[in-house]
This record gives sequence, C-alpha cells and structure tokens, in this order.
Amino acid sequence: MSTNADADTHTDASTGASTTPAGSERLLEVENLDAGYGDLQILTDVDMFVDEGEYVTIVGPNGAGKSTLMKSVFGLTAHMGGTVTFAGEDITGLMPEQIIHEGIGYVPQNDNTFTSLSVQENLEMGAYILDEVPEDALEAVFDRFPILRERKDQKAGTMSGGQQQMLAMGRALMLEPDLLLLDEPSAGLAPDLVADMFDRIDAINDDGTAVLMVEQNAKEALRRCDRGYVLANGENRYVDSGDALLNDPQVRQDFLGG
Ligand SMILES: Nc1ncnc2c1ncn2[C@@H]1O[C@H](COP(=O)(O)OP(=O)(O)O)[C@@H](O)[C@H]1O
Ligand SMILES: [Mg+2]
Repeated sequence: MSTNADADTHTDASTGASTTPAGSERLLEVENLDAGYGDLQILTDVDMFVDEGEYVTIVGPNGAGKSTLMKSVFGLTAHMGGTVTFAGEDITGLMPEQIIHEGIGYVPQNDNTFTSLSVQENLEMGAYILDEVPEDALEAVFDRFPILRERKDQKAGTMSGGQQQMLAMGRALMLEPDLLLLDEPSAGLAPDLVADMFDRIDAINDDGTAVLMVEQNAKEALRRCDRGYVLANGENRYVDSGDALLNDPQVRQDFLGG
C-alpha cells in the first residue's frame, strides 16, 4: 500500500506497521478515500490503517479534515471514492448503525451526551441495538469510570465537561468495540484533567481495544500513541511512529508549534 506520505522521506504506511506488536492483524484499512459533505470534497486520497490493539493518533491544523476522516470511517459523510475495510470486511458506505455492529465505537467531538437523560440512560443508549442492556458491559464501564456509577441517576447535562467525556466514552464502550474512535477527547478539559483523560485512554488501549484518536493536544497524543498521521488540507502529509513524528524538525516546525 502507498500513501501520499511516500512523497516525503518518512516512513510509509507499510513500514509503519513494524512499530505495532508482532503478530497483530490489520483491523481498519482506509484506502484512497475521497469524502466530504454534499458535493463538497474535503478528503483527498487518504490512506490510513489501524492494527488490532494499536493506538493511532491523527493530528493536524484546524480544518484539516481530521473529524471528517473519523466521521467517514463511521459512515457519516458523503463517500466519493476509495474504500474502508474493517476486520477484512468492506464497510464502505454502510450506515453508522451497521458499522456499530461490526465493532467500531465512536465518540464525536462535540455534544456527545444526551444531556436530558440520566448517566445510566446514556450508557444504555450505547447498547440500543441490543434487545437487552448488557449488564456485564455496564458494570465494566462503571468499574472503569466509578464517578459514573456514583452519578448514575444524575442528568448528564449537570455533569462537568470531564465527566461528560467519560460518559461519552463509556457509552461507546457499551458494545465492547474492537476499535474506539475518539475525536478530541481532551478538548475543553482543565489542564489537570487532560493527563487523567489520556491515562484513561491508555488503560482502554492496554485492555486490548484499538484506538484511533484525533487530538489538538498533538505533542501529548503523539507521545502516547504507537503511530501517528499528520493530516493537512484533507491529505495525509506524514505517517510514522509517534516518537519519530515528535522528533522530526519539519513536523515540529509546521505542525507542532516548534
Ligand atoms: N457538516 C459539514 N458540512 C460542510 N462542511 C463541513 C462540515 N463539517 C466540516 N466541514 C468542513 O470540512 C473541513 C474540515 O473540517 P473538520 O473535518 O471538522 O476539520 P478538523 O477536525 O481537522 O478541524 C472544514 O473546511 C470544515 O469547514
Ligand atoms: Mg475536528
């Protein structure tokens, strides 16, 4: 496979795979993706992959198309070309309800809780495609985020930003996805809560869930992840291990504030 990043001196997507755990399988594969909204094309020829259990970060300037890429994986944009494959199955053009069934959970950037519903109702909504609430999964979410158990009867809208972010993640974990898409999980959090949020994401990944995350807090995200992509103007610019991107003078200058 080739990426637009081939044009520069950086690791291409196929050699980037060498940084992932031995024996891991390709989970998500985005190839030559063109996508946007209505007739408006935002993404051009984007290639990206996530292996089983891998932690991948997408960084890049505001308006680069990071959220659009996440939405495209989850079936929320207009598809204009290319393919999205998940666990060997072509999911291009499927609806979000179908994609959830395949094992992908998605936490959007904004407005990611039902503010007038209780915490527990929000979590139950995460499993609405099932006939019954999966009690084991609910308990696992409460164990992971004890504050949600403490506040399970409270309306989501009365919770702090950090707590609502945990709730949104918990809701996406209710179906125990193989891949969790996180769009700016640290956005709007007080600085002392940002590290805690990243620690929680590490823990989710350590328990075996692959993570594909978009972050404005690019340096910290690259420090934590296995591999990163730099997206600009709807195109892949770089793909490499997080450390390699962090240490690349050009990436630092152009995308990481020096
Ligand atoms: N619903 C939409 N309809 C039309 N254009 C959109 C929509 N959402 C985002 N865009 C445009 O797509 C481009 C990429 O946006 P986005 O993916 O949100 O960037 P990022 O997440 O990297 O900041 C921007 O120019 C933005 O204005
Ligand atoms: Mg965004």
